[in-house]
Amino acid sequence: MRFQGKTAFVTGGAVGFGRAFARALTSEGAAVAIADIDADTAERTAAELTSHGAQVIAVPCDVADEHQVDRAVAVTIKRFDGIDILINNAGLHLTKYNQPFGVLSRDDIRDLFNVNVIGVINCTLACRDSMRERGGGVVLNISSMAGFINISPYGVSKLAVRGLTVAFASELSPDRIRVNGIAPGLMNTENALADLPHSLVHDIVRERQLVHRLGTMDDVVSAMLFLCSDEASFITGETLKVSGGYPLTV
Ligand SMILES: NC(=O)c1ccc[n+]([C@@H]2O[C@H](COP(=O)([O-])OP(=O)(O)OC[C@H]3O[C@@H](n4cnc5c(N)ncnc54)[C@H](O)[C@@H]3O)[C@@H](O)[C@H]2O)c1
Repeated sequence: MRFQGKTAFVTGGAVGFGRAFARALTSEGAAVAIADIDADTAERTAAELTSHGAQVIAVPCDVADEHQVDRAVAVTIKRFDGIDILINNAGLHLTKYNQPFGVLSRDDIRDLFNVNVIGVINCTLACRDSMRERGGGVVLNISSMAGFINISPYGVSKLAVRGLTVAFASELSPDRIRVNGIAPGLMNTENALADLPHSLVHDIVRERQLVHRLGTMDDVVSAMLFLCSDEASFITGETLKVSGGYPLTV
């Protein structure tokens, strides 16, 4: 039970990676707040995990709205006495955002950066005081291997997430808060597979990755558990690629 007595605030925790993170953290003893813009699905996920004996609440909020985030954090602290772990997972990531900047509308570009970048800033700053009062904490940002390629608005937003990981690792270090990131490659989440052309999935797995299989939720969950645990207590400011070796960079 690596996280007994700890509380985690997981953004975008209603489905996909976020739900898998919430489930894995509860199975290691943590209480979890599921912070998601989709209130109904967040409630359903919280109810499902609670029915298995976990301590989970849904705290609906749009991460792009600092006031909603502040309220959701306050509700979590009231319920669980504080926050130790923040997982900045909520993100817009469909193929639409992998088109050139000139093709997307300014409103779409603003939405993308408001959720993927400003959302990380809002949640990190909102959780900071509680982590400091608890003697330290962990922030984990979900970037993407696209953040190493950077040729689309989505990739640039995830490059910014890598930048925030370094900046907050430095800024929050006096409060004993470690900040790391994970950059998943192509993963077999429902939404990602439904969104991408089969030929592209095949090309990435067969031609571009060094490990020729689809990434799974478990691959990302095990990296999350490691980086949030004391086993990673000497690691901060890093973004770990979990992508089967694509893209390799130095
Ligand atoms: N799936 C992949 O292959 C993959 C690969 C690399 C990176 N990622 C990143 O991982 C994260 C999660 O991916 P996923 O596939 O699980 O996504 P998903 O689309 O399945 O789920 C995203 C969740 O975030 C919530 N959300 C969206 N906007 C929000 C907002 N403004 N405020 C609060 N919640 C919001 C959604 O309601 C949903 O529950 C994203 O940041 C994504 O960019 C995913």
